[in-house]
Amino acid sequence: MGGALASAPPIYLVNPMDVITTIEGFRTARAGLGQLGLVPTMGYLHEGHLSLMRQARRECGAAAASIFVNPTQFAPHEDFTRYPRDLERDMRLLEAEGVDLVFVPEVGEMYPEGFGTAVVLPAADEVLEGAARPDHFRGVATVVCKLLNIVQPTRAYFGQKDAQQTVVVRQMARDLNMPTIIVVAPTVREADGLAMSSRNSYLTPEQRAAATVLHRALTAARDLRAAGERGGDALRQRMAEVLAGEPLARPEYVSAADPLTLRELDEIGPRGALLSMAVRLGAVRLIDNLLVDL
Ligand code: PAF
Repeated sequence: MGGALASAPPIYLVNPMDVITTIEGFRTARAGLGQLGLVPTMGYLHEGHLSLMRQARRECGAAAASIFVNPTQFAPHEDFTRYPRDLERDMRLLEAEGVDLVFVPEVGEMYPEGFGTAVVLPAADEVLEGAARPDHFRGVATVVCKLLNIVQPTRAYFGQKDAQQTVVVRQMARDLNMPTIIVVAPTVREADGLAMSSRNSYLTPEQRAAATVLHRALTAARDLRAAGERGGDALRQRMAEVLAGEPLARPEYVSAADPLTLRELDEIGPRGALLSMAVRLGAVRLIDNLLVDL
């Protein structure tokens, strides 16, 4: 396993005492803190991440961030090597938020020679992002498990934007009796509705303008639901119709699923529905979702 982080020279503009690259170093620094909130990230931070940092500090008194572009959650054809990275800018943002500890391991620190364990949730691979990206959630669950073991946070914070990831992490924490409380915070959006994502930086100006179609499709289905529609097919069809109106958009899937099992719904049930989609704009793949009530 390689990657840019493995070779990048460390550039630490925050108090270097607080930026830690080794597991041992992190454990030593963490030992001096009581309650701690962790925001795991892959860097290239945006307001969505920063609002999680603020929530972590507010609720736990101290906040830690991890920045690690995890190679095991990318398929060979995906964007691991070109995933946006700007450690210097990230550090400035974290410093401004008063984040207490920053963990920036290299790939070899997280996956040393001989590493051989995985956390697998087979059901996650059957639907939505898991079906579209085989082994993605194996990589996510394994690295989040490792980060929770290393950081030992009181609470760990995730954005609703990656809805299936939140379901996977919550189930893992429950199944493996992890003491960390998993907190899911609402998606942070740009003024025109586009969900914030590090991958938005890949979009050309034309694609960026077209990318509002995801939120427009989701809100159209939400409005249909609010008008009384409960049928899963009708909600999926409404999203597909709106997406079809944007020539640059190539939908991969649209879904109206149970928010816990993520199985497609015939009718919205007592838990409401998770409306979600993955859409390609050129080579850029975006996801978004909205929760609706019964
Ligand atoms: O959501 C992300 O940025 C990543 O999937 C996570 C949770 C940091 C694991 O690598």
